[in-house]
Amino acid sequence: MSEQKTVEKPWTGRFTEPTDAFVEAFGASVGFDQRMYRQDIQGSIAHARMLAHVGVLSDQERDEIIRGLTQIEAEIQAGDFPWSIALEDVHMNIEKRLTDMIGITGKKLHTGRSRNDQVATDIRLYLRDEIDGAIAPELKRLQSALIELAGREAETILPGFTHLQTAQPITFGHHMLAWNEMLQRDNERLQDCRKRINIMPLGSAALAGTTYPIDREFTAKELGFDMPGRNSLDGVSDRDFAIEFLSWASILLMHMSRFSEELILWSSSQFDWVDLGDAFCTGSSIMPQKKNPDVPELVRGKSGRVFGSLSAMLMIMKGQPLAYNKDNQEDKEPLFDAIDTVKGCLKVYADMMAQIKLKKENMREAALRGFSTATDLADYLVRNGVAFRDAHEVVGKAVALGVETERDLSEMKLEELQQFSEAIKEDVFDYLTLEGSVAARDHIGGTAPERVREAAKQAKELLKG
Ligand code: ARG
Repeated sequence: MSEQKTVEKPWTGRFTEPTDAFVEAFGASVGFDQRMYRQDIQGSIAHARMLAHVGVLSDQERDEIIRGLTQIEAEIQAGDFPWSIALEDVHMNIEKRLTDMIGITGKKLHTGRSRNDQVATDIRLYLRDEIDGAIAPELKRLQSALIELAGREAETILPGFTHLQTAQPITFGHHMLAWNEMLQRDNERLQDCRKRINIMPLGSAALAGTTYPIDREFTAKELGFDMPGRNSLDGVSDRDFAIEFLSWASILLMHMSRFSEELILWSSSQFDWVDLGDAFCTGSSIMPQKKNPDVPELVRGKSGRVFGSLSAMLMIMKGQPLAYNKDNQEDKEPLFDAIDTVKGCLKVYADMMAQIKLKKENMREAALRGFSTATDLADYLVRNGVAFRDAHEVVGKAVALGVETERDLSEMKLEELQQFSEAIKEDVFDYLTLEGSVAARDHIGGTAPERVREAAKQAKELLKG
């Protein structure tokens, strides 16, 4: 970044003294908003087309501007654009360069427009591009990996928990589809949030609109916006769309953080249920035996960072009167950081989940411990005429015997079980197996392998949209 103190700012007319050097650096956003250069140029080209369409610019002026902007885009891409903090932000840097390049016509581009509606437009375009180009597809890729895994592991049994205590056997596929349900809601929420992002502030000008006969429908169409915003004051000062995106990102990361917690537990030598793959883990510089689940740990950590961005954005907005205030310049870094973080988390998770290896024997072993089929025995008794509360009591006693003698219910003799209730018959063992237990939960939303296969198919369909 060059500090061209001699650069003439476009607003110095009413000033008699130069900007304090530190204030200049303090107030500049070009260091972080230059990443929106493509959208800024796209917005300017659409604006120039609209100005020519309504007769404010001649067709020749329009073409000159478009040619200049296209060249500027190439310069930036090639890395030889003379960015200057004296010109504050991406908008004035590009506009100044255009004027240097094409002269007086460049000075006409800003007719009927302000940086206030320009920046609001750029952010919306940028966010929309990131959602459509990377975030939504990466989210779908992660969902696909989970759905695929669920279909493959529809019969793999592990203990399900409540209170992190063994509760009932479930299938691994069912567990993966639970995560997919959350991500599917995230997916739908993202598309819903996109609707409110895709509204055009351009034309709001500084705050009150403009005296030129602008055609906002025309510009909106050029830029692929669903419509021009209905109120110019709102157009320049609204950052709800960014808050909404950050809320969305926070919910997503909260889900991913919970999922991470499970993967971290499952990777421990105490659980030893999954192998995340060497490519997604690191070792320790001192302890030779270590293989650390860095990826889920980092994602769990990064969730805090995204929640922080949401919080920052809410704080930035909460005291602002209408319309634009310079506070708004602080909106970009938390938003950009969250975009980058979400993209990274989704990418690494989609890659990792496509390669995860299961240690099925260990999961099965774990499901056999902890009396995971106790509820099945109670349900069996109910089917044989015992009231549920009495059945609960009977099974509780059988479990106590199991704890005392260190055996699972399925390992007890029929006579031993029958001392607790006469309703227990020879066929009880069909219900005490893990397979019997999961197969019996055969209804919409249940863990039975058949249901899981069906649910995986439906999830895949839903994802295709
Ligand atoms: N860099 C500014 C921002 O990010 C652009 C808008 C500046 N508008 C103004 N009136 N100073 O918000």
